[in-house]
Amino acid sequence: MRITPSLHNNTIYNRNTQPKSLAFGTTHRYYKTSDGYELGTNTWPFRDDIEWSKLAKYEKRHFKDKDKVNMVQFASSDGSEAYTQIISLIENNPAPDDKKFFPIKAFDIDPEVIKAAKSKLLNTMTFDRVSLQMNTENYDTYFEETGKKLDIKDDIHFESIKTLKVADILTEKVVFENADMYKILAKMEDNSNTILMCRNILGYFDENKIEEFIKMVGQKLKKDSLFLIGEHDTRISFIERYLGENGFTKVMKHVFKKI
Ligand SMILES: C[S@@+](CC[C@H](N)C(=O)[O-])C[C@H]1O[C@@H](n2cnc3c(N)ncnc32)[C@H](O)[C@@H]1O
Repeated sequence: MRITPSLHNNTIYNRNTQPKSLAFGTTHRYYKTSDGYELGTNTWPFRDDIEWSKLAKYEKRHFKDKDKVNMVQFASSDGSEAYTQIISLIENNPAPDDKKFFPIKAFDIDPEVIKAAKSKLLNTMTFDRVSLQMNTENYDTYFEETGKKLDIKDDIHFESIKTLKVADILTEKVVFENADMYKILAKMEDNSNTILMCRNILGYFDENKIEEFIKMVGQKLKKDSLFLIGEHDTRISFIERYLGENGFTKVMKHVFKKI
């Protein structure tokens, strides 16, 4: 069962409402920023609020005339989302020019979770390993159980974890960086060839902050670039309305195209 933390005024996550014993996902670390926000790193591979193989096929067709696609992930957490995206692109309609999608530039504000992502290790629960096996054609090519331990400070799980080593075929296609997405967005330049993922973070902000962020995204992204959000964003906020007001049209579940 996936449990979603609830909103709490200015806070992004309210950990007080969530018993620690119910933690799930490949990472579930809570931390406090210097300005008092409580943030959570919760993620897992093939999070099913995106139709991953359909998305990969769409991306390839949509950007077929581009020599380079600028793949950016905000709020990337431990790398689960990047590995999911890479596997989907490798396995769906493989083509010689697939390399134009890589490397993904993945940013997260939490230094601890970025350290974990850079370790090339992934902590998994049974659910994650089953999901990876079901959703990939070549699980053993990508992941291998290892005796190495990945310690993520203040991470919590409700069952014992197994640590997987992530193969170079995935890690070489993503660059993780510890950075605030606001700062990266402010200096982002687009050439109508960007896929910007910002999933399951905006929904935890106040409405006006979400609206402002979407305005900025609308100014930065040019025609035909894509912006992706998550189930938590749409369920909690009016984000789809803000996207419509800022020049985006929905092309599939949680995927929006700048028009
Ligand atoms: C709930 S996780 C979502 C992870 C992943 N995108 C997914 O959907 O599974 C939210 C992540 O956003 C990160 N985050 C929060 N504020 C951020 C910011 N201003 N810039 C970059 N990352 C941020 C957190 O550290 C956390 O790892």
